[in-house]
Amino acid sequence: MEQYVIKGGNPLVGEVEIAGAKNAALPIISAAIMTDETVTLENLPDVNDVNVLLDSIRGIGAYVERIDRHTVKINGSTIHGCAVEYEYIKKIRASYYLLGALLGKYNNASVPLPGGCNIGSRPIDQHLKGFRAIGANVKIDHGTIVATCDHMTGAHIFMDIVSVGATINIMMAASRAVGRTIIENAAKEPHVVDVANFLNSMGANIRGAGTDVIRINGVSGFHGCTYAIVPDMIEAGTFMMAAAATKGDIIVKNVIPKHMEAVSAKLLEIGCEVEEFDDSIRVVAAKRLQRTHVKTQPYPGFPTDMQPQMSVVLALAQGTSIVTESIFENRFKYVDELSRMGANIKVESNTAIIDGIEGFTGAQITSPDLRAGAALVIAALQADGYSVIDDIIYILRGYEDFDGKLRSLGAEIEKVSTESEIQKFKMKNGCM
Ligand code: UD1
Repeated sequence: MEQYVIKGGNPLVGEVEIAGAKNAALPIISAAIMTDETVTLENLPDVNDVNVLLDSIRGIGAYVERIDRHTVKINGSTIHGCAVEYEYIKKIRASYYLLGALLGKYNNASVPLPGGCNIGSRPIDQHLKGFRAIGANVKIDHGTIVATCDHMTGAHIFMDIVSVGATINIMMAASRAVGRTIIENAAKEPHVVDVANFLNSMGANIRGAGTDVIRINGVSGFHGCTYAIVPDMIEAGTFMMAAAATKGDIIVKNVIPKHMEAVSAKLLEIGCEVEEFDDSIRVVAAKRLQRTHVKTQPYPGFPTDMQPQMSVVLALAQGTSIVTESIFENRFKYVDELSRMGANIKVESNTAIIDGIEGFTGAQITSPDLRAGAALVIAALQADGYSVIDDIIYILRGYEDFDGKLRSLGAEIEKVSTESEIQKFKMKNGCM
């Protein structure tokens, strides 16, 4: 089992390059199989979720060639079946995007119900409602979603809840329906826009992505293209929080500052300096930060995927902060681990009441999910002494070379898999 061992206490200083967005890459890889021509994807993050999804499209026959670490060529002309193996789906929830892609291309998809990060109940009723609205028969058979149709027809769909996944999935399938589909109450996240831009580069006709009404005129086929994935706003935000927590000074490069506004605004509010450039942001935390309140919301609100990292920063801020999680009900599981590092946090239902402390103390802790895992790494980087973080498999799902990037900013962190490697780290880093 891989772990991170960390000696805390160093302010993180320097520049870090942000990778392509995992949450855009996953639907875009799925959509890439919707044409029989070759699609070249650039700026793909080299993270476990992306690599598992590439394996799962290989599993149904697609041709996948890795050109370099961040570029792949995909050709969907060799796909021989529309049934995706559970083996892949249990590892990544986002393989449900293959439902929309296969349904759109072949009018037929069979995808096991997804697993993924354990951050609360994650229904997919809105995805299925959208597929049914455009004419698909959808049933759940022995744990597998089977969607079929003779032909799909555009429809007017009102989403009951703002869902990133459902908006994207419906957008993919409806791009190949006959006539016009309108999605109302659509998600507005930058990765929704990125998927729409990608589909349009393949020949789709989608307007309004980034607003809450998306209009899709169905087309009869897609063609190949070359497309670069948008920068990862959550990875960028994570490094911004690492600067804030460690009283550091970090320039995050290859970001779209507009996407970071909710995060930047909170950091400014609590006393960080935040400087925006064309495609980078500098965060400096020169003094003790101050309390605030945060509520997670769909974009452009404060992202739920940044809630654990923000809470770690507020656990160090002066005064009492209140963090309300309004998207996923089970997203405070890291709080028990953080308490073991000295944090003073009480969780009541979907709210965390945080009394700021001066600093954490290192401990052996477990990463409960992807973003919470990254947040605990930030806490350990600030902590006095050393920490060992278990279950980093979750973190590796979504962060490319996390430990390497942190080391380049002055962090003392190693990925280890044995007790003797931990001892070696402690000796090297003066923790004995
Ligand atoms: C995506 C992101 C995830 C992020 C989340 C919210 C990916 C791979 N994952 O997840 O990192 O935390 O957006 O920004 O992109 N819901 C329903 N029915 C549905 C669909 C969703 O009730 O059919 C609910 C969910 O339980 C949740 C809310 O809607 O409470 C938002 O979920 P959604 O936006 O769909 O999240 P994901 O697409 O799963």
